[in-house]
Amino acid sequence: MSRGHFVSFEGVEGCGKSTQLALLAAHLRSRGAVVLTTREPGGTPLGEALRAVLLDPDYQPTALAELCILEAARTQLVTTVIAPALARGEWVLADRFADSSQAYQGTARGLGHDTVSALNVLACGSTWPERTLVLDLDVDEALQRARERPSTTTFNRRFEDEALPFHRAVAAGFRELARREPGRVRLVDAAGTPEQVFGRVLVALSDILP
Ligand SMILES: Nc1ncnc2c1ncn2[C@@H]1O[C@H](COP(=O)(O)OP(=O)(O)OP(=O)(O)O)[C@@H](O)[C@H]1O
Ligand SMILES: [Mg+2]
Repeated sequence: MSRGHFVSFEGVEGCGKSTQLALLAAHLRSRGAVVLTTREPGGTPLGEALRAVLLDPDYQPTALAELCILEAARTQLVTTVIAPALARGEWVLADRFADSSQAYQGTARGLGHDTVSALNVLACGSTWPERTLVLDLDVDEALQRARERPSTTTFNRRFEDEALPFHRAVAAGFRELARREPGRVRLVDAAGTPEQVFGRVLVALSDILP
């Protein structure tokens, strides 16, 4: 039985997920909460190895192969890290989670909602975010932020180098999720300063924050 709280941050490359997640983690810790942060893909030894596989230009996974690799990393993370933390009553803040597969593999790579949903359910079971914040930002502005940042990782680079229509499809995929599940998935306007955006994050979580 899960006693903790599970919140995920989603959105296109560079929209501010990692920035807002760090602000929320600090906010919760200042109020005495125990906070675990995760990122996808990765977060476990197997997940980090699969991340390297996804990066390797020699492999060129098909869309379905890419989804299966991500789901393998996800189920390992859920079972060995996220579910135990929730059982201990902790806050889990996820930098991307299952909804990224809907937007990237389901919408942008064309696998469709039902296929991704079936694999997400298989991988995650009942361990599911109670609130998902999609940081909604003009794609050009988000990619500009991502490209200007000093620490862009090779993993991000692989997706950042996709053509603009791909990123627009990802953004459309996230908006579609917010329409499908308005209770859980909230669009947060990600324009403005990090502090302004964080104010909106707090509003979108106001009913579950301590
Ligand atoms: N509100 C903001 N205004 C201007 N710059 C921002 C804002 N939020 C974050 N940034 C900067 O934009 C860049 C991207 O932000 P961040 O790394 O948080 O995005 P991300 O969504 O985690 O990206 P990725 O998907 O690539 O991991 C960083 O350099 C960050 O410092
Ligand atoms: Mg990030």
